[in-house]
Amino acid sequence: MALLLRCFLFSIICSFCIQAVDKNNFKTCDQSSFCRRLRAAKPGESKYELDLSSLQVSDHSIESVLLNTEAGIQLKWSLTALNGNIFRIQVDEASPLYPRYRPQLALNGETQVAKLEIVDRNKDIVTVQHGHNRAIIQARPFKIEFFNDDVLVSVVNGRGLFTFEHYRKRAEGEESQAQEDPGAWEENFKSHHDSKPKGPSAVGLDISFPGALRAYGLPEHADKLALRTTGQGGIDPYRLYNLDVFEYELESTMAIYGAVPVVYAHSPQKTVGAFWHNAAETWVDINNSKDGNVMSSLVNLVSGSKSENNVDVHFMSESGIVDLFILMGPTPKETVRQYATLTGVAPLPQYFTLAYHQCRWNYNDEDDVTTVVDNFDSHNMPVDVMWLDIEYTDGKKYFTWDPIKFPHPDVMINNLTSTGRKLVVIIDPHIKRESGYFLHEDALANDYYVKTKDGSVYEGWCWPGSSSYLDFYDPKTVDYYKGLYGLDKFRGTTNDVFIWNDMNEPSVFNGPEVTMPKDCLHHGGWEHRDVHNEYPLAHAAATFEGLIQRSSTRRPFILTRGHFAGSQRVAAIWTGDNAAEWSHLAASYPMCLSEALAGISFCGADVGGFFNNPDVELLQRWYQAGIWLPFFRAHAHIDTRRREPYLFDEDVRNRIRTALRLRYAHLPLWYTLFWEHETFGDPVIRPLFYQYPEDLDSLDVDNVVLVGDAVLARAVADARATTVSVYLPGGQDEYWYDMEDFKQYHGTGNHNIPVSLDKIVAFYRGGSIVPRKDRPRRASAMMRNDPFTLYVALDNKKTASGTLFVDDNESFEYRNKKYIYLSFSFKDNTLTSTLMDKTDYPSKEWVERVVILGPPSGVKGARLNSKSLGTVELETSYGNEDRSLIIRKPGVSIREPFTIKLY
Ligand SMILES: *[C@@H]1O[C@H](CO)[C@@H](O)[C@H](O)[C@H]1NC(C)=O
Ligand SMILES: *[C@@H]1O[C@H](CO)[C@@H](O)[C@H](O)[C@H]1NC(C)=O
Ligand SMILES: *[C@@H]1O[C@H](CO)[C@@H](O)[C@H](O)[C@H]1NC(C)=O
Repeated sequence: MALLLRCFLFSIICSFCIQAVDKNNFKTCDQSSFCRRLRAAKPGESKYELDLSSLQVSDHSIESVLLNTEAGIQLKWSLTALNGNIFRIQVDEASPLYPRYRPQLALNGETQVAKLEIVDRNKDIVTVQHGHNRAIIQARPFKIEFFNDDVLVSVVNGRGLFTFEHYRKRAEGEESQAQEDPGAWEENFKSHHDSKPKGPSAVGLDISFPGALRAYGLPEHADKLALRTTGQGGIDPYRLYNLDVFEYELESTMAIYGAVPVVYAHSPQKTVGAFWHNAAETWVDINNSKDGNVMSSLVNLVSGSKSENNVDVHFMSESGIVDLFILMGPTPKETVRQYATLTGVAPLPQYFTLAYHQCRWNYNDEDDVTTVVDNFDSHNMPVDVMWLDIEYTDGKKYFTWDPIKFPHPDVMINNLTSTGRKLVVIIDPHIKRESGYFLHEDALANDYYVKTKDGSVYEGWCWPGSSSYLDFYDPKTVDYYKGLYGLDKFRGTTNDVFIWNDMNEPSVFNGPEVTMPKDCLHHGGWEHRDVHNEYPLAHAAATFEGLIQRSSTRRPFILTRGHFAGSQRVAAIWTGDNAAEWSHLAASYPMCLSEALAGISFCGADVGGFFNNPDVELLQRWYQAGIWLPFFRAHAHIDTRRREPYLFDEDVRNRIRTALRLRYAHLPLWYTLFWEHETFGDPVIRPLFYQYPEDLDSLDVDNVVLVGDAVLARAVADARATTVSVYLPGGQDEYWYDMEDFKQYHGTGNHNIPVSLDKIVAFYRGGSIVPRKDRPRRASAMMRNDPFTLYVALDNKKTASGTLFVDDNESFEYRNKKYIYLSFSFKDNTLTSTLMDKTDYPSKEWVERVVILGPPSGVKGARLNSKSLGTVELETSYGNEDRSLIIRKPGVSIREPFTIKLY
């Protein structure tokens, strides 16, 4: 949902809006007092010192006084060892003038401490050991070095940029004021004034990663996957500040809707992560030595010195404490899992959420909703979910229905669900200030709203016009809000209606940078400044609890636009208001890959592009690429032409139908990957370097996604492309099979693949077994008891393996062992299916066919063996010019172990 209307509201000329983001609405680092202050610091000797005489030691942590030697201020410093190769560094003021904020929602409960041993200690240096990791803490100047298996992987404050602005009263004397940044005590941006009642309170820290070749992470930015060096060529630091940026720009470090302050530094030998646990506005400078200027490379050349790889990171936040987690890796997989142990994982979503979602601003009325679904049905195009944007409400009052356009929501919803479909409706956090609107009346009467700095209810402008914003930091607000989702409260809804939380950065059309003023107040006396990046998580978490309260047996589904570390535990995200441009299609892959590394796997981009009208070629390519992102939804702005896929010519319809069916065929794979994500913490989609950490040429490849470790898909994101170059990793011995004709490629780098408009560029990795449901249906619910086809893609040793997870698809019973988890393996010409855990689910599904890619030659037949069927002879035949071998009708239930032997 975007702000096109804002153009009318504020009488900006609209043609201008449509062209590009108005950058002037958003701050650069230079326009932000604290960013200016912290960034002005030059690398050098730190003015901070640890007073090791004050060192206190426990089994899992050490703490001491950290002294600001210039100001004579004492800070409290600690280092803690956490389970799973994690160190935590915390710094707070010893006796602050005001309490400093610690995020309340990002961490997944209490962290688990681990054993920390002091292995060496003298007056100036303490060395501690935690598993295979060591930290050397130097007191003067303050610095910490981290080693994994004796290799130096990370240095904290090595450049001496650590800063902790203690709270203080504003000095009277002219002299001291003259030294201050002009925005330190109050700040103006455009027509907005930030009163800063507590004055400057920024914290900053530098972390270096010796040996690292790339840095990744820090979503959300509309940028490449690999982070760029900032500070040169006019590139601002990566900004983390949830903002509703109208028509966001690509290849930009500007802040957009989400903010996840985790960064990964990677080299083939070591991957290390740093999670900066802070909810205030944050800027992050990156300096990758590979981007060093020509001069220094020349110097190196002349002097013969070998330049060492290194990545420097500088975090700068406006308030809060320093709470830094160092994830010691040492592989991408382990590092990402470590982040998951801190901030949690996405709970297994309901099966339907992985299918196709049809959205538009807006489906106009009940008839429109019914007609759209009918059209999908009559064109044999699958769809699972219909979405309603803001216009379904009665005058933008959430939890109400427009009485003229949606007079019988219950009938409409039952019509939808009778064919296995679901509905998602939008609920935003701004509340219309209209007397008589129950929610507004309740909020005023019971004090549920965010306040201004003076303690009156804050009023801002959003969709309904004058609005106030619910304060999800107040437990009584959350309690009330949860109840609103109850079927007795949200009239017309059923347990098949799910929720879209939009505009929750929060978006305030007339606020500074289109958001809430930083001096607004939340429950507990916290300024909005302190909690801003966490606010959307507070909103979505309250919604999640509301849906659980509505039905404790059904898994919630929520889509949120604003997001923070930990949002994965309650909601899916999408990349917001993109545009119908090829470049935006291309950006969808790196943007979601970056989120997946930062714990948020359930990510997608509006298929077709939100703003403007895609031409049919772009629309088709978008469907063909969009099926390979976890969240798969088409969406469009209210001013765009209708573009439901059945509206186009037959050849276009056929191509989109093929793409939709390929998505539906792979739903078992997606579902299995989401269960594995919840269980092990692994991302559902992955960039190449994650799976191939040693493949140096893959480090910058972000036009492909890996779905689990089995599928590699390449977005075709160029108009009139007739071939695309696809990077296939893994070397000569890694095989990749084109999903369409099963042609075999080797993982030797770039391959040119012809791409007719029909072509979906996707491969199975040799060595994987992918369970599919190939019978086309109108909705995933109708595939419930359909049989599986197992695609067995053989590697160079003629082996393969894979998994399959099956449960009731909607309840939490899988947590009570009501599921089956199968392991498939192929070796010695035998396919074996094994039940992994001691669990059961009464599935009626069976195996209809096995397709072996890269099969052995000369196979005459196959023999199935299972307990209930005994030994059965099966027919086999070669296909695709002998590139595949098809085994017909094994007919065996997935509930029993079996083998199929080729002979
Ligand atoms: C990056 O680091 C190098 C080496 O310390 C330094 O020479 C260079 O100026 C830095 N670049 C930026 C943009 O800060
Ligand atoms: C529900 O479906 C019936 C039968 O197709 C149709 O007549 C009716 O208009 C639908 N009602 C709504 C509110 O969608
Ligand atoms: C999920 O399970 C329910 C009940 O077991 C069934 O009615 C529904 O069709 C299933 N949905 C899907 C998407 O498989």
